[in-house]
Amino acid sequence: MTMRLPFDHFDLIARFYDRLIRRQEDDPLLTVVAAEPGQLVLDVGGGTGRIARSLLATGARVIVCDASLPMARQAWAKGLPAVVGDASHLPFAGGCAERVLVVDAFHHFVQPSPKVAQPAAAHELLRALNPGGRLVIEEPDVSRAWAWPIVLMEKLLLMGSRFLSPLRLVALFEASGAQTVRVTRNGFSAQLVFTLSA
Ligand SMILES: C[S@@+](CC[C@H](N)C(=O)[O-])C[C@H]1O[C@@H](n2cnc3c(N)ncnc32)[C@H](O)[C@@H]1O
Repeated sequence: MTMRLPFDHFDLIARFYDRLIRRQEDDPLLTVVAAEPGQLVLDVGGGTGRIARSLLATGARVIVCDASLPMARQAWAKGLPAVVGDASHLPFAGGCAERVLVVDAFHHFVQPSPKVAQPAAAHELLRALNPGGRLVIEEPDVSRAWAWPIVLMEKLLLMGSRFLSPLRLVALFEASGAQTVRVTRNGFSAQLVFTLSA
């Protein structure tokens, strides 16, 4: 059984998150998402809107969805549309989004338990995706030693995280009906792109 603290870490760090976790401006992730003007992008577990804000420059419409109200408030403060919602029960209509994005968040989808929440989230992310659209998951690549310090840190902080290797993520999403477009491993993290046939 995973030990977990009885409070939400992200509620506590929301105000400092953007100062703690930085990202380069010309992030290659934006090329992977390849959002086009007018398309709807859902950034699930999108937190403070750190990634969503960069996507605005593409002309896409971006909505952040996050389980933590304080994190979503930070996204609102940036002028981003943000909703409080659980990845296992997304508050979006089926097939509404051309792009669905989950960055550094899938391993946090663990309530009520990872074995229930992660398959439910995979199903919901694909339900919200328009056939022919693109689902992009970025996670620490736990099949490589670069990512082990983050696994250890989250264990010590009793965050209850459950990390899946790229292979296990592929198996999970394909079992939910997705086709794998590509998996890119860049040392610390892995980016996985899935689609749904029309
Ligand atoms: C490490 S942060 C990543 C935030 C953002 N994607 C980024 O890269 O800056 C993980 C986020 O996942 C959110 N989260 C955790 N469980 C969630 C769930 N079940 N549904 C939606 N969001 C969740 C947390 O509140 C937190 O904002």
